[in-house]
This record gives sequence, structure tokens and C-alpha cells, in this order.
Amino acid sequence: MPLVTSTEMFKKAYSGGYAIGAFNVNNMEIVQGITEACREEKAPVILQVSKGARAYANHTYLVKLVESAVIECPEIPIVLHLDHGDSFETCKSCIDGGFTSVMIDASSKPFAENIEITKKVVEYAHDHGVVVEAELGALAGVEDEVSVSAEESHYTRPEEVEEFVSKTGCDSLAIAIGTSHGAYKFTAAQCTRNEKGELVPPPLRFDILEEVVKRLPGFPIVLHGSSSVPQEYVKMVNANGGKMPDAVGIPESQLREAAKSAVCKINIDSDLRLAMTGTIRQFFNEHPDKFDPREYLKPARANIKELVRHKLVDVLGCNGKA
Ligand code: G3H
Ligand code: 13P
Ligand code: ZN
Repeated sequence: MPLVTSTEMFKKAYSGGYAIGAFNVNNMEIVQGITEACREEKAPVILQVSKGARAYANHTYLVKLVESAVIECPEIPIVLHLDHGDSFETCKSCIDGGFTSVMIDASSKPFAENIEITKKVVEYAHDHGVVVEAELGALAGVEDEVSVSAEESHYTRPEEVEEFVSKTGCDSLAIAIGTSHGAYKFTAAQCTRNEKGELVPPPLRFDILEEVVKRLPGFPIVLHGSSSVPQEYVKMVNANGGKMPDAVGIPESQLREAAKSAVCKINIDSDLRLAMTGTIRQFFNEHPDKFDPREYLKPARANIKELVRHKLVDVLGCNGKA
């Protein structure tokens, strides 16, 4: 089947109590690892491309890689989505250039300005059969050049969501309930420690999610910053020359809970980066004489695939839903 929008996916995910995985793609091995897992698990998937990914790999290469996955995996629905579009122009360029979904992230702007920019993107996107994700609230962390400090970040205000959605016409809404981007989501001071001495982060604000859902019944909600930062990969990085002290993410049990609610899309990027980097570091440590990129990218791709399979089955619950 050709690339699809997320409309049907979200309807089914909402009523079925599961979420669609939205994984960031930057190169061929990442696209292959994700989509091979999705094909084997019969899972619909969103492949998302950030502004940074377009700058790194080039728009056309990424679109063609995703189109190749569509040819290789005809049984599963695939969405090509712009992650954190920063302006009308970036969104327009992706809408004109083959994407089926875009995010306009004007969440750092004042409320009225966020509405104005989002509405403009929605009008253009809908005229071209493309769907739009918008954001209210600000996640801490770094996306491209935009860094939001912990002090500047704030949770979504539920009292704003109805007006925002009705005035913009957006198709899904990303909210801030305590997730953040990257591999360092919480400082050690914000966490407690379990009996193994591992950091345990503060729980997500499910009360805010519930309040949003009450005000927007049936409307698809998106969670960004939802990597769990698997400690096995942090250890693999650190055991092989890396230095990632106190990297910690969102517990998968909480994401599983969110996936059962109105959360229809869960964004995961850092976990795949960690799997790739840990695997490559280990490979070079074990094989200092090797220099063929295929030899180290092959196990990295295989580990991305297994990590994605785990997310589909144990976290998102979208296996078998294609
Ligand atoms: O939210 C941001 C994603 O993890 C993409 O990151 O901007 O470094 O490509 P990037
Ligand atoms: P992570 O950094 O937690 O993987 O979040 C990715 C994301 O939200 C992409 O938009
Ligand atoms: Zn994000």
C-alpha cells in the first residue's frame, strides 16, 4: 500500500487501547531496522524526520528510503511525518515533498501566535491531504538548535486545549506531562533510587492527561520524549569507552499505561540512538582491526530491530494491528 496518513491508525489505536510508534529516521539502517520489526510484528508505523535529519541526510534521500520501505513492506501502513516542524515554510516543503503528516511545533510561542501559525499550516496541509500534529506546553531538552531549559519547560494547561484544537483544526495534539527529549530526562536530584541503586524518575502527570482527555474526548494525543533509555545500552556504551553517567528515561510501564488511553502516538528516538551507538562501540572494542562499515552497521541494525520489536509488543501494544 502507498504511504498513508495517520487518521485511520489513530482511530483504531484510540478505540483499541494501544499507541502507534513514531520512530525517528536518519539513515538506511535505521529505516530498515524499524520497518523489518514492524513487518514481522504486523504493526502500523510512523517514520518521522526532523529538521536535523533533513539537514544531515537530505530530504530526497530520506523520502526515497521511506518509499523503499513501503515497497519492501507492502503489508503494513507507513506514515511519513515531519517531526518538530519549526515554521510554515518547513511544513510546506515537506507537504509538497511527499510527506503524509507534519508537526508544526510553535509551542514556544505565545498561545495566540501558536494558534495562528498552526492554523496556517493546517489549512495548507488539509488542502493537500496531509494531517497535522501541533503542540501545547513545552518539553525540556534539545531538539535541533532549540534547547528548552528545565525552568522554561512547562506542562500543558488543560484549560487551553479545547480552544486550541477548535481554532486550529489540528488532527492530533502533543502535550507536556513530564517527558523530555534526549537521554538525560531527569537529574539525579529529581529521582529516587531503587534497591539496585538505579535512578527512578518522578511519575508522569497522568492527572493532566486525564484532564485533557475529558476536554477533548476521542481526540488523539501525542507523547514526545518517550524514550526509556534502556540501562543495558547505557551500560554497553559506558563499558566500551563511552561516558553517559546517570542517563535515565521514562519507565516503560508508564508508557504502556499511556498507550492504553487517548495517547495514540509515542515518539521514540534516543533509545534507537543508544542501541546503535552501544552496539558499534562494543563492536570496535571487540574487533579493533575491523574497518568495513557493513560489519559494524549490521549488528547495530539488528539491535535496533529487536529494540523496536520490544517496543511494539511490550510498550505500544500495536503488534498485529496492521
Ligand atoms: O525531538 C527530537 C528528535 O529526537 C530528533 O532529534 O533534532 O537531533 O534529529 P534531532
Ligand atoms: P526521545 O528523545 O525521548 O527519544 O524523544 C524523541 C521525540 O520526541 C522526537 O520528537
Ligand atoms: Zn519530540
